Amino acid sequence: MTTPPPTEWVRFQVPFEYPVYFSEAVFAETNPTLVEALSRLEPTRRHRVFVIVDGGLDAAVPNFAARIRGYFDAHAARLELAGDPLVIAGGEACKNDPRLIPSLLQRFAELKLDRQSFCLIIGGGAVLDAAGFAAATAHRGIRVVRVPSTVLGQNDAGIGVKNGVNAFGAKNFIGSFAPPFAVVNDLTLLDSLPRRDRIAGIAEAVKVALIRDAPFFDWLCEHGAELSRFESAATGAMIRRAAALHLQQISGGGDPFEAGSARPLDFGHWAAHKLEGLSGYQLRHGEAVAIGIALDSRYSFEVGLLPEAHLERIVALLILLGFRLFHPALEALDADGELSVLNGLQEFREHLGGELSITLLTDIGRGVDVHEMSTPVVRRSLAWLGARFRQ
Ligand SMILES: NC(=O)c1ccc[n+]([C@@H]2O[C@H](COP(=O)([O-])OP(=O)(O)OC[C@H]3O[C@@H](n4cnc5c(N)ncnc54)[C@H](O)[C@@H]3O)[C@@H](O)[C@H]2O)c1
Ligand SMILES: [Zn+2]
Repeated sequence: MTTPPPTEWVRFQVPFEYPVYFSEAVFAETNPTLVEALSRLEPTRRHRVFVIVDGGLDAAVPNFAARIRGYFDAHAARLELAGDPLVIAGGEACKNDPRLIPSLLQRFAELKLDRQSFCLIIGGGAVLDAAGFAAATAHRGIRVVRVPSTVLGQNDAGIGVKNGVNAFGAKNFIGSFAPPFAVVNDLTLLDSLPRRDRIAGIAEAVKVALIRDAPFFDWLCEHGAELSRFESAATGAMIRRAAALHLQQISGGGDPFEAGSARPLDFGHWAAHKLEGLSGYQLRHGEAVAIGIALDSRYSFEVGLLPEAHLERIVALLILLGFRLFHPALEALDADGELSVLNGLQEFREHLGGELSITLLTDIGRGVDVHEMSTPVVRRSLAWLGARFRQ
């Protein structure tokens, strides 16, 4: 026998792929999209599906649970409901509730869900993140089909590979990378969404346009008024383009599970994540992102990276869409009398690990990573936001 080498290397690759369907009225019995999504690997089998529904959606749409039951009845040859659909409280509260994950896991166990069963999660980004995390950990991963029911869910949160809940005062402290089995975007689900959430989700489209796609930014400016009125054609087109750009980053960006420190899709997010917490989660994620975009665009101008005319276009678009670019949380002070939002930089770095990596703009459609942020310049940029947008 030869002497074994001192180190055995283990190396393998696991390909990931999942479809993102775009459809309308997916719970109409005649719409085959959901059946297709759930049975895409085993079309002849009958699939067990546990449905989790966002409480905000359930309250806003009369008889929503009955519609789901009707769909499963109509497709009983291919689909089987595991238990009654479960309605959970929507919004950031579900990501802040430490009892939710254990209670979901207990329900999965009671229903004897296995790794071939499905969780069909219908809801906003928060419900998708929280229930998706529970599903990712049960039996080391139950299949998840997501049906995002907010703009932000459909153009960003619901189509990607991450989930998570908040803990120890930090956003998404607990979570995993878990690509879904499929995603089904249904434009008509947005009909019941309050105006505030319709607008909030557009922030992620502005963000991804600013770092990746100048023509899309021009398009957003041209259609800003329609988008602020939430006209269906413009909204659908905005979601399609923003979703495609997010998906391109995941599949072609070279780092889908964010092993490195760079996180280009988080432009504007270091401040946004901090502001959400500082506002006691009064600010929606998208609303905080809009402020974060304005702040980092101003910073980009202050350090000479971005021409002022571009900054003005960005601000004008955000205002046209209906965003408020100031919130009192921007002026909250920490125990040392320092602006609390500044701590967001350090927390952002800790979340990623490695060196600080912040995306700034050099042009509309072009992001650049920097590894240092000047505190006096951030303070100046914050002061500018206050002076200009405080009402
Ligand atoms: N996993 C990711 O990659 C990722 C990416 C971006 C954002 N996120 C997370 O997504 C969350 C924000 O998601 P969001 O903007 O979708 O907001 P949200 O999930 O907080 O939902 C906003 C409100 O809308 C309600 N609601 C949802 N659908 C509805 C409908 N169709 N009709 C009526 N009410 C409805 C909810 O109950 C809630 O009250 C944040 O927690 C953010 O961190 C995750
Ligand atoms: Zn975001």
